Order: sequence, then structure tokens, then C-alpha cells
Amino acid sequence: MDLKTENAAIADESKFRYKRILTGDRPTGPLHLGHYVGSLRNRVRLQNKYETFILIADIQALTTNFEHPEKLQENIFLAALDYLSCGIDPNLSTIIIQSMIPEISELTTFFSMLISVNPLKHNPTIKTEAKERGYKELTYGFLGYPVSQTADIAIFKADLVPVGIDQLPHIELARKIVRKFNELYNGKLIEPFALIDKFPKLAGLDGNLKMSKSYGNAINLSDGFDLIKSKIRSALTDKNRIHPTDKGNPEICTIYSYHRAFSGETLIKETEYNCKNGKIGCVKCKENLFGVIKKLLEPMNERRAYYLNNKGEIWDILLTGTAKAKVIASETIKEVKETMKILYTLP
Ligand code: TRP
Repeated sequence: MDLKTENAAIADESKFRYKRILTGDRPTGPLHLGHYVGSLRNRVRLQNKYETFILIADIQALTTNFEHPEKLQENIFLAALDYLSCGIDPNLSTIIIQSMIPEISELTTFFSMLISVNPLKHNPTIKTEAKERGYKELTYGFLGYPVSQTADIAIFKADLVPVGIDQLPHIELARKIVRKFNELYNGKLIEPFALIDKFPKLAGLDGNLKMSKSYGNAINLSDGFDLIKSKIRSALTDKNRIHPTDKGNPEICTIYSYHRAFSGETLIKETEYNCKNGKIGCVKCKENLFGVIKKLLEPMNERRAYYLNNKGEIWDILLTGTAKAKVIASETIKEVKETMKILYTLP
């Protein structure tokens, strides 16, 4: 997708004053450096600027993992642990367990009337994901997850959704659904904007364009340093470089792309120069990178160790956040029903 083309769904922070962010992840396993570069480090920054809600989308995780619902609880815990380790501050960010807010499912049902099946079938992200996963047929739930994602955003009245570029079609769809809702029922739901993180996707250790758990080419935030060291050691570099004195091409080297993501200006420049001129071997270059990543992860590991010793605090944070979110969600669903003239109250 080309970011240069004007896209009405992309936020312009210089033009509008946004207030509330909602973003989320499917809890499907440990988060890795790709998540850190692609979203986590941005969230840590954004939580100081916006009221931030982070949704652990366990129902959405079921769209692809419905055979193993029993794994969700552990994965929710791990996601929260990764967030907190990275520096998501529970005083600034509200972390929510999606399945504990049934109002989201209710709103999903109302929204599902406002979109026909074809645009979902043609949604490029759905298509790519279905292909990657080898789905020949799509379940109703999987096909509809962008509708439920629209409800995630709308129920909390978020105006800004920080996501990777692959999620842009979903934000466009969310805007369409909300607009239709407002037009039809004279509603006041907020049409959200996407805040796109422009940092390129982190490549996998094997040179694949995308770091991903399912490709087995990831460095997890929770990996120990010995494991990280050996993973870095085995990472793909410029294949044509045999000796340290060979002139290399950093542009095709995974390790260099990691330097660009994590190292400081000076080390990035030095690495590029030394590689191009055969003045550094890949082994040494990898050691430098390991040093940088170790420094990045050390404070995270400290927080991780703290929370692992105080697991109860994680559940407290999750439940407190979810309770706060629940208040907003039940107000919104009440408004939605009033707007639709279907609000009836039990005696
Ligand atoms: N679809 C997102 C992903 O796969 C996760 C998600 C669920 C989300 N609900 C959301 C993202 C709401 C942004 C807003 O990563």
C-alpha cells in the first residue's frame, strides 16, 4: 500500500486535536521485536499524549484459534506482561480484556447489518491473511472480524487508532460503518482515524520480509540473552560476503536492518561504512547489535522480573482496566440503543 496517496482515513495530527486512542492485539503468543518496532514503542510514547486504551482482543483471537480457547487465558497474561515490561504504564493506559465487555459483541451485531458481505470478501487484509493461513473457506467470524474491530473502536469513542499499514482497510471500513450508522439513525458515534506507524516492518531472522511467530524467525521480548545471542548469530546477512574484508551490501542484510531499527545514528553510519568497505566482519557486527538489543531489553527484563514475582498485580491491572472500560461501553451501548429506538428497560 502506498502511503503517499491521500487517504481520508489517515490521521493528520497537525490538523486535528485527537483525544482518545484505541489499539489492540490478538493474544496469540509472546510478542517479539517486530511488535516492539511496529507498535509497542509507539504506544509507550503515545500514552503520554492521548487517553490510551489497549484491547487484548481475545474474541478476535478465536477467529483463527477457535480450536484452542483454553490457551487464551495464558496468552492474555503474557500479552499484559509484555506490555507492562515494555513500559506501558497502567496509570496512563487502560488495558482491557475484550471478552469481558459483552457490549462489544452487541454492537458488533448491530453493525453487521450495515455492511454487506462483498466488501469484507474483497478486503485486501482479510484476503492476504486467509491466503497466508491456507484457508479455503472463511468462517463467518473470521470474515466479520473487521466489523467486530469497528465495534471495539466505536464502543470506546476512540478517535484515533494507531495501527500498522496492513490494518488501514479495517479503519476505512470502520469509518464507513460508523458513517452509515450516524446517517441512518441520526447517531453521534465517532468516525475514527488511523495513525499509521511509518517505520518499515521488521524483517525476520531468516531474511523474510516479516518477523512473525508463525514463520519461526522472531526474537521474542521474553527470550533470554543467551537465546537472543544465538538467534542473532544465525541471522541472515549479505550472502555474498564470505570474509570480513569482502565488501558488503548492507541494504540486503537483516542485521543492518536491525541496526537501523535499534542502534543510534553513529553506530548505524559506522556499520554501513564499515560493511561497504570490508572493514568489519559479520560476527563483530552481530556482536555490536547484540549489545544494543541487550541494552534495550535490560530495563524491560527488570520490569518483567518484578511482575513475574507479583503476578497478582497483572490480573489486578487487567481487571481494573476492564472495569473502567465497561462503564464507558455500557454507556455507549445505551446511547446506541436509544438512537436506534430499541432501548427497553427491565422493571
Ligand atoms: N486486528 C488487530 C491485529 O490483528 C487487533 C485488533 C483488534 C485491533 N481490535 C482492534 C487493532 C481495534 C486496533 C483497533 O493486530
